[in-house]
Amino acid sequence: MLNFEFQNPTKIIFGRDQISKLATQIPQGAKVMMLYGGGSIKTNGIYEQVTKALAGFDVIEFGGIPANPEYEILLQALKVIKTERVDFMLAVGGGSVIDGVKFLSAAALYDGETPWDILKNSIRTFKGLPFGSVLTIPATGSEMNSGAVITRKETLEKLSMGGPGLFPVFSILDPQVIASIPRRQLANGITDAFTHVLEQYMTYPIEASLQDRFAESIMQTLIEIAPRVMENPADYEAAANFMWSCTMALNGLIQKGVPTDWAVHAIGHELTALFGIDHARTLAVIAPSHYRFNFESKKEKLAQYGRRVWGITAGNTDAQANAAIEKTEAFFHSLEIDTKLSEYTGQYEGTAEKIEQRFNERGWLGLGEHKKLAPADVAQIVTMSY
Ligand code: NZQ
Ligand code: ZN
Repeated sequence: MLNFEFQNPTKIIFGRDQISKLATQIPQGAKVMMLYGGGSIKTNGIYEQVTKALAGFDVIEFGGIPANPEYEILLQALKVIKTERVDFMLAVGGGSVIDGVKFLSAAALYDGETPWDILKNSIRTFKGLPFGSVLTIPATGSEMNSGAVITRKETLEKLSMGGPGLFPVFSILDPQVIASIPRRQLANGITDAFTHVLEQYMTYPIEASLQDRFAESIMQTLIEIAPRVMENPADYEAAANFMWSCTMALNGLIQKGVPTDWAVHAIGHELTALFGIDHARTLAVIAPSHYRFNFESKKEKLAQYGRRVWGITAGNTDAQANAAIEKTEAFFHSLEIDTKLSEYTGQYEGTAEKIEQRFNERGWLGLGEHKKLAPADVAQIVTMSY
């Protein structure tokens, strides 16, 4: 097992009707900015619950943060935060709203001229403007981690940022919010969380037994509840297990002491930036090709995953590893998620070369757990995903 440090300061308040506890979590007298997305909270009752719980506070609202939070829109919020001297933010939404708020948390206290530099130059944030969240869609784990991904339409870029100053102070997770999520977004959430586990697991064996079992149990739980959640998102027990699995998939715990990959996300983000494909779907497009391309270095873990998560017993390591990739693809298909780029866009020719060039320009010369995946390898993976 590798050495590690682990600290996760986010307080989780989980369960039915917990949004009413909001007022007890925000500092008394704080000037609060409540941020949300395109309006789903106005039709499913979450907006009413939140505003009722915030009744005693001075609150400014900022709505309209789009899926894949957009830099230009966030700059408008930043202006208000500064002029109105906001001292606490509340994100009411999914990964996009929470990530947008993380960017604002960093940008509000950033000294430089251009906040985009935080992303472009990978500036870590050690102290941000404090914020909490009310999670409305399980998927990203953003509610309990310190990372964010921000999009800039102008340049078709999607870049990550983070730092220990960007954990939410608290996040409220009421699984009842899942009842109003459309099928497509439910499938996205399951796929995103599942791939988060894969990124922290599908590397090489290092006898981190507990981390492996944590990872496998999250994947097993997601596989188990997926049909129930897709069939009936108002099934509270299934929703609760879905929500907690997504949080646990990316709150830092399972990656401690083990090598991690994250190449699927790095490549997937480019597909969202270039074509606007939903984040989770880009992962389903890239992951199978990534595992096939890196088969030799990943086959031990692929086979272990095949045996323990999918119950594959026949054949040798190679056969089990191959069967595990096929099971993974079939799982995505069972969620009505396509796994080829050409199923999302007719404009895919040249994508591999474009991404290769971008990674070269950014100096991303070695991705993956061995830091050996060169931009030319990435191009081959993308081509295999067409
Ligand atoms: O905008 P509204 O109208 O609220 O609609 C949203 C949005 O269209 C809708 N929705 C959310 N809660 C709902 C609901 N509809 C009905 N009922 C509800 N209760 O769902 C749509 C998607 O929301 P979004 O927040 O974009 O989804 P998700 O949580 O999947 O977040 C995706 C973003 O997070 C980033 C992705 O790249 C993407 O930008 N990620 C963030 C990570 C992190 N911070 O750790 C890690 C991930 O790998 C990921 O990259
Ligand atoms: Zn993801």
